[in-house]
Amino acid sequence: MTFAVPSPFRLVHLVEAVSTQEEAGRLARDGCPGWTLIVADRQTGGRGRFDRPWVSEPGNLYATLVLRPDNGQPPPGTSIGLIGLAAGLAVWEAASTLAAGAGLALKWPNDVLLRGAKLSGILVELSGSCILVGFGVNLAHSPRGLPYATSCLADATGQSPTVRDCLDVLLPRLQIRLEGFLTAGFEPMRADYLSRLSGVGETVTVYRDAAKLDRVDGILRGIDDHGRLLLECDGSQETISAGDVVARP
Ligand code: BTN
Repeated sequence: MTFAVPSPFRLVHLVEAVSTQEEAGRLARDGCPGWTLIVADRQTGGRGRFDRPWVSEPGNLYATLVLRPDNGQPPPGTSIGLIGLAAGLAVWEAASTLAAGAGLALKWPNDVLLRGAKLSGILVELSGSCILVGFGVNLAHSPRGLPYATSCLADATGQSPTVRDCLDVLLPRLQIRLEGFLTAGFEPMRADYLSRLSGVGETVTVYRDAAKLDRVDGILRGIDDHGRLLLECDGSQETISAGDVVARP
């Protein structure tokens, strides 16, 4: 795959990587410029949140973006977790262009759902003064055998966008949302995020650990200034930093 990406992105394309997160971390330590984007056709050790494996067969998008914010910090008064929310919003916007009217929603913090099944996941990590934003977007395949339902854009449109089709739409949205976040914080995009967030006002269960031993039930009320989930539980408010939200029937 050789194609141009718009400035400020710089593409590093790999046929195979263990994980684009590891490649990005290595390049970041070696001093690569901000907005370097590592894309792999497949990963042999792709990973997701909670250290879950991320199935990475050819045909879907596996990419990590290296950001170098000024001073190595997100804007004052914001926090790094909000970058994932901004990136998730950009993926939602790209998916809604590729599959208009297909029943897309955000699941806190930064998954995109297609008809309630996971289409995309994002992993945000720090490497020195860089922020690594990893994206997995299911274009051609819905991975099977996972403890949650999955979907792919081919399910919605009948044909699979290529990785290039997806990047053509995704990169401009990412630039707008991430530059916006790095200069002005999350507030200007909060309403856009919330209007696409699934489960607001509904009773949900949030599992706070991968083993699903630590759960809390409540009504999803929104997010706070740090992007944490606000849950109303028997009249009191819980603030949740990390977890897996599951809709309750
Ligand atoms: C999640 O669990 O929802 C986050 C999944 C993130 C997967 C992407 S694929 C590209 C990058 N490389 C990885 O190993 N993980 C991220």
